[in-house]
Amino acid sequence: MSNRYAVILAAGQGTRMRSKLYKVLHRVCGKPMVQHVVDQVAKLNVANSVVIVGHGAEKVKEQLGEQVSYALQAEQLGTGHAVMQAESILGKKDGTTIVLCGDTPLITAETMEALFEYHQETGAKATVLTARAVDPTGYGRIVRNQSGAVERIVEQKDATEEELAIQEINTGTYCFDNAALFAALQHVGNDNAQGEYYLPDVIEILQKQNEVIAAYQTPSFDETIGVNDRIALANAEQIMKKRTNESLMRQGVTMIDPATTYISPDVVIGQDTVILPGTMITGKTVIGEECVIGPNSEIADCKIGNTTKIKQSVVHNSEVGSSVAIGPFAHIRPLSTIADDVKIGNFVEIKKTTFGKGSKASHLSYLGDAEIGANVNVGCGSITVNYDGENKYVTKIEDGSFIGCNANLIAPVTIGKNAYVAAGSTITNDVPDEALSIARERQTIKENYTQKSKGKKTK
Ligand code: UD1
Ligand code: CA
Repeated sequence: MSNRYAVILAAGQGTRMRSKLYKVLHRVCGKPMVQHVVDQVAKLNVANSVVIVGHGAEKVKEQLGEQVSYALQAEQLGTGHAVMQAESILGKKDGTTIVLCGDTPLITAETMEALFEYHQETGAKATVLTARAVDPTGYGRIVRNQSGAVERIVEQKDATEEELAIQEINTGTYCFDNAALFAALQHVGNDNAQGEYYLPDVIEILQKQNEVIAAYQTPSFDETIGVNDRIALANAEQIMKKRTNESLMRQGVTMIDPATTYISPDVVIGQDTVILPGTMITGKTVIGEECVIGPNSEIADCKIGNTTKIKQSVVHNSEVGSSVAIGPFAHIRPLSTIADDVKIGNFVEIKKTTFGKGSKASHLSYLGDAEIGANVNVGCGSITVNYDGENKYVTKIEDGSFIGCNANLIAPVTIGKNAYVAAGSTITNDVPDEALSIARERQTIKENYTQKSKGKKTK
């Protein structure tokens, strides 16, 4: 069992965001900030991660689920007070605790691991992760003594002119000897500009007790930015986007214009797939090899095979096979399963529908709650009538059937194997295998109608 622990601070309201959404739930590349931090921590060998929740506790818990433990900070009295709330869970443990902020979404597991290792090597009771900022405004500054050792951290609002000029900042990430951390927290006061119990004060407290304090400076300031407002949020988005896109390109994915290609960090894309501009791919999407996605497409939580093309379309929470052609302007809604070699053309909407191998709906269809077999042709403008205002019903179209243009299939209904539905039919009863069903008014012809009607008018 590991003797490493993690505490992630996520109780703040995030006033500077000016938002109804709690700060740590704001998304960077499609994923809430606190989820980024938790996912990176999950790559480390930690025995327990405790997330401190307060503002929006229920929403944060809903997001993170059972992968972490929670401690409630009912009143937000500062970052030191926040960590103290983990005492009932971690207070008696022997080991090392990493403390992170839920608003530093770019920090990586590699940097956390390096911090742990540095902390171990130096034998320090506390190690703060620092970075050099070109513009340190807003961050706590690292105050070192003449010999270069860390003495304390001073917040922007409490700093003197001289201290404000320091460019080495506190990233808000630390490693502590667990026992020393909770002992020192007892001594943190709130006599400062914000009247808060500051976690960084633990450094000065331990330093004054002659404990070894270390600072590990990461060369990557970008990785450590704290998101307090929407400007920093946009900045974080740019940095993460670049990181994610470059990693995918290194793995063999082509991007015509990475600047307009938005891909969440958990997305997996195979070699020689081309992503065209204006495309957004999010969630746990997995895309195979040699696909062409975009331009201007939105794909979320999908599994897509190889050599599939999706252009100007939206595909959500669905499975799409190999060599499928989707779009332009198709909408595949959740819980659809599309087999290999399918064609879904312009202005086709599909919802909770399975589409068998080689089937086609090339133009202007709505197919909802349908089970469509293999090699079915759904003609232009044909739809499933799946909803009676109260309930949804299933339409089955079996292998090899041909649905003529502009047919209404009123569910529940089954079209048998190799059957035909005539264009313009409104089908209310099952159609047997191999049959043709015509369900429309017969055409009538009124001879010489034009002349007769003109005659009437002139009378
Ligand atoms: C904090 C640090 C600062 C550091 C910066 C790095 C303190 C006092 N200051 O400042 O030195 O440079 O992070 O980004 O720690 N939180 C709680 N409960 C609270 C207060 C805050 O859970 O009572 C959480 C917030 O939700 C947030 C994190 O702690 O995720 C940091 O709080 P924030 O108010 O953003 O601190 P900063 O002013 O950025
Ligand atoms: Ca912050």
